[in-house]
Amino acid sequence: MTATPADRIEQAWVPGDRLPVIVVGAGAMGLEWIRMLSASAYAVPVGVVDLNLDLAASAVAAAGIDGALVATSIADVAERSGAKAVINVTVPQAHNTVNEQALRAGLPVLCEKPLAPTVAEALRQVALVNVTGGLLMVSQSRRYFNHLAAFRRGVAGLGPLAAVHAQFYHADHEPGFREQMAHPLLVDMSIHHFDMVRYLTGDEPIAVRCSSWNPAWSWFAGDAAASAEFELASGARFIYSGSRCTPGLQTSWNADWHAYGEFGAAAWNGDSVVQVDTTESSLAVGEASEGIEGSLEEFASAVRSGTTPQNEVRANVRSLAMVEAAVQSSDRGGERVVIAELLEESLARAIADELHDDVASQLQSWASAVDGIETPAWGRAPALIASGGAE
Ligand SMILES: NC(=O)c1ccc[n+]([C@@H]2O[C@H](COP(=O)([O-])OP(=O)(O)OC[C@H]3O[C@@H](n4cnc5c(N)ncnc54)[C@H](O)[C@@H]3O)[C@@H](O)[C@H]2O)c1
Repeated sequence: MTATPADRIEQAWVPGDRLPVIVVGAGAMGLEWIRMLSASAYAVPVGVVDLNLDLAASAVAAAGIDGALVATSIADVAERSGAKAVINVTVPQAHNTVNEQALRAGLPVLCEKPLAPTVAEALRQVALVNVTGGLLMVSQSRRYFNHLAAFRRGVAGLGPLAAVHAQFYHADHEPGFREQMAHPLLVDMSIHHFDMVRYLTGDEPIAVRCSSWNPAWSWFAGDAAASAEFELASGARFIYSGSRCTPGLQTSWNADWHAYGEFGAAAWNGDSVVQVDTTESSLAVGEASEGIEGSLEEFASAVRSGTTPQNEVRANVRSLAMVEAAVQSSDRGGERVVIAELLEESLARAIADELHDDVASQLQSWASAVDGIETPAWGRAPALIASGGAE
């Protein structure tokens, strides 16, 4: 059998070693990653890439990782650094390009959320992964919290669910792309909460009605507030409201959660308070790695073992579809948007937009978008972390 790029990486990296990685994107979040990686047991930063070379150099200096190479492209450091993987912390518009450069160079990628600005672009990345045989995992780092895992166990004891509510109220000032985008809450932040409800319940979104707006005092150009009601496959509802310009009584970045079902209710304040009002549940809280460190741990172990992580690219498409469907609904005055229809429209757009023949033929070979995202990655073992998160 011909070796895929993924096979070559798994053979070249000695299990137990810290995975040598290139961090692409040395902005605010890139620096967080580089700092975490410099002290990580799972990976070591051997290269930092940014279009702005001075920024890459200052991130290396700030994190005290003097041996790391700096460059403006992956191609310039991939061989010299001995990197075996890439962590993509660029702006969302650059994710596709950087992921493609890495995957075509045979390097697995851990990509920051949101995977892509559109579901169509996300589907092109699923097809690219099929063509290259590599690994692309999305870092939905808010799945990795020990109290979320405890809340999830509590929710599992509630029986059939009627509803899950999440509220997110924050006042964040982060100048840059967020303050310019049309939907800074839904696209940049709610992707975490929408992905979390899929992790929490194991349920999938069917349709949404959403309204978004921008409060008069908002410092964002686009809509900083929204409310949305999702229909889930089980018949339960996910009721979400949020704002990024709420100056008082702020919730956790993880949002404030409440779920109720046939046998009781459970709540999580997004930090360390989990309540379960049923006799069936256990509230044991684990001590696994959290946030981006939890995400890295799962990525490094997937690269080493060849297994499929819970956020392998195709599993993330429905979280992104929740965001795009909510935006569409809001743009159409609260109209009900059906996720299955959005997925198929996105596949047509992906085929029309794709410039590489190999990726375009891969997209054309799918019977449907759902076929594309539900067919497991070629050559990788099935997901082992069905329970996910920080468990
Ligand atoms: N998981 C979380 O909690 C969390 C928090 C903050 C940001 N993020 C995500 O991290 C990513 C980066 O956010 P940020 O706040 O650091 O943005 P930023 O604008 O501060 O930094 C992005 C950097 O990427 C660089 N860049 C852009 N295109 C590039 C390319 N083609 N090649 C190399 N470098 C390129 C830019 O020069 C910039 O330095 C976004 O996807 C964001 O959504 C995640």
